[in-house]
Amino acid sequence: MNTVGTSKHVNKTGKTILVTGGSGYIGSHTVVNLLEKGFRVISLDNYDNSHKWINNRILEIAGNEAKVHFHDVDICEKQKLRKIFEKYPEISGIIHFAAHKAVGESVENPLKYYDNNLNGLISILQMAAKFQVPNFIFSSSCTVYGNVDKLPVTESTPLQTAESPYGATKVMGERIVTDFVHATPIAKAVLLRYFNPAGAHSSALIGELPQNKPANLVPVITAVASGKMDCLTVFGTDYDTRDGSCVRDYIHVSDLAEAHTLAMQALLNGKLNRVEVFNLGIGQGATVLEAIKAFEKVSGKKLNYALGQRRKGDVVAIYADYQKAQKVLGWSPIFNMEDIMRTAWEWEKQLDNDNYFTSGRQ
Ligand code: NAD
Ligand code: UD1
Repeated sequence: MNTVGTSKHVNKTGKTILVTGGSGYIGSHTVVNLLEKGFRVISLDNYDNSHKWINNRILEIAGNEAKVHFHDVDICEKQKLRKIFEKYPEISGIIHFAAHKAVGESVENPLKYYDNNLNGLISILQMAAKFQVPNFIFSSSCTVYGNVDKLPVTESTPLQTAESPYGATKVMGERIVTDFVHATPIAKAVLLRYFNPAGAHSSALIGELPQNKPANLVPVITAVASGKMDCLTVFGTDYDTRDGSCVRDYIHVSDLAEAHTLAMQALLNGKLNRVEVFNLGIGQGATVLEAIKAFEKVSGKKLNYALGQRRKGDVVAIYADYQKAQKVLGWSPIFNMEDIMRTAWEWEKQLDNDNYFTSGRQ
């Protein structure tokens, strides 16, 4: 365990939040945001898709007075998880990020996804019930909407049958959390549907860590620009969109982090219905070609890309209506596509300077 904190630290809220997957991409940014707002954080991770040194970076950003405890725990291991709840009876909310997230891998190995994502969720909810922790936030995804007829997507847009086992764990996860809340008098939950998270912290100390060859658009762009990949293929240029390439709603990871803190504050203040769903996107779609242009503008580099065939399973266009989060949580995204590209690029260059890709640092 790594424990940091002194009595001088002013804890404005007095509340302790348990974060699962707290060393991962979105989790690490959210832990920083919670600490900056004066929360105490218990961060759990099994480092399946992250690294322990990220925890030092979190401390570097949040300052040595930040109150955070890091634990190496697999949340599916109920005995170990129970010990955490016994150790910290003051936990008043849980933000649950821990899950596998690679869509393609989930198609090849569905049981790995159902096992970790569903058992992990059930295990943490069982502890929430046993230790009477009332407030719960679940990481969901716009993947639950599938191919939509009407844009932008609101929270009441009907859900589709999931295209992948990963997507199915999000649809089922939302259902499991909802059923749990309805059966548990003290429980309340927020389901956050992220659109396309991207970018990195403005310090370039934390960001998305590629374990394998990147597959998502922004990490592919920065990998090509830094020479780790030869060329980006634009998947489809004959869609019915303004330039023929697909449209997505890219949301900066720091805006996402802020939304989690606001959602937790709203839960703690008793301001929400028992189960609330929020879309988290910037409300605007960008095409793949527009994303490439934004990268070229902020980096001053010409990106090597080729126009290619459609990728199987891609939806044509999706972007969020986030008015509910704005109205109920007081949340508005502040970063745009250029901020996403600038910070993602700074992060990629920092990893290069650090020899992350060649040293295989663990
Ligand atoms: P990530 O892989 O960077 O972070 C997840 C973290 O959870 C990792 O550090 C991993 O080691 C940890 N973890 C996984 N299984 C665990 C277990 N059994 N016990 C303890 N730790 C475990 O992923 P992320 O991008 O930060 O995503 C966080 C959440 O948001 C996930 O639930 C993901 O499905 C969801 N989400 C992500 C995106 C995205 O594009 N990144 C989009 C929509 C939803
Ligand atoms: C995918 C997942 C989604 C997940 C999200 C973030 C699918 C069907 N959906 O969304 O569930 O929440 O990742 O992890 O897999 N593109 C290229 N060339 C590339 C890479 C991407 O043109 O090399 C295009 C894609 O066709 C798409 C856009 O860029 O139009 C964004 O792709 P990506 O970053 O993979 O995210 P999604 O497919 O939207």
